Amino acid sequence: MNRGNMRQPLIIANWKANLSPGEEVERARSIAQIAVERGLSAFNGIDIPTLAIAPSAVGLVPVASLLQREFGSLAIGVAAQDCSAEGIGAHTGELVATNLVGIAASVIIGHSERRAAGDTDNSIGRKIAHAAAAGLRPILCVGDATQSAAIEARVPMVVAQFGRATMQAAAAGWPLDRLVGAGLIVAYEPLWAIGSHTPATPMDAMAVARGIRAAVHGHAIPVLYGGSVDAGNAATWFDETRAEADGALNGLLVGGASLDPRELLEIVGAATMPRR
Ligand code: 13P
Repeated sequence: MNRGNMRQPLIIANWKANLSPGEEVERARSIAQIAVERGLSAFNGIDIPTLAIAPSAVGLVPVASLLQREFGSLAIGVAAQDCSAEGIGAHTGELVATNLVGIAASVIIGHSERRAAGDTDNSIGRKIAHAAAAGLRPILCVGDATQSAAIEARVPMVVAQFGRATMQAAAAGWPLDRLVGAGLIVAYEPLWAIGSHTPATPMDAMAVARGIRAAVHGHAIPVLYGGSVDAGNAATWFDETRAEADGALNGLLVGGASLDPRELLEIVGAATMPRR
């Protein structure tokens, strides 16, 4: 994958567990209708879509079918918020990656809220492997919990976390080069920035992106930033990183602000505005 093709930023709306499936369908409809009103005819980037919605597990099917049935030309993507570390079989209550095929094109894995609920490097690696095997793009979340430390100390911690997860995926049959081919995306989400109205600085996010790319020896891995992104700061992630090809961010993973359809589309607009 050529990073030169990835200038169209990817915005992923992570709705977490905030809405009922009915509310998710209505918000997805509002997003699509506002996009139509504004003449945003297609969210298809060159090799990554510009906008993907990650509803709850029970919202995946109704949201995906609404978007496909009524707004197919907009090409708004759907992402799952998690998938199982197990494959298809006798695993009561699990959402296995193969069952997401045709519904979601990508899956968030290793979000800090899932790590807090028990995800480990091993389970994350297996989830990545199952997602990739099912043809879904894994979106691997990494992040530090140490706002007070200098970025020079935080980058190696985040890169090591990335390395542990991808090593486990390799042990499950998906070494890094295969994962890159499967469209692996990394999302840097510092824990202290999530839901805090205190985002990281673009310079710090850029340093993490550069560190991850250095660790993968030139593989072109898209890196997103997440944590207190809103319409007011959406453009800054791209303005301040544009000069640094290795550190350039490829998009944003948005929580709270993505629950408001108008604000979400403002973020999409800000992120895709022409570079100065
Ligand atoms: P907020 O945008 O609410 O800080 O959440 C970020 C996040 O966790 C997205 O996955």
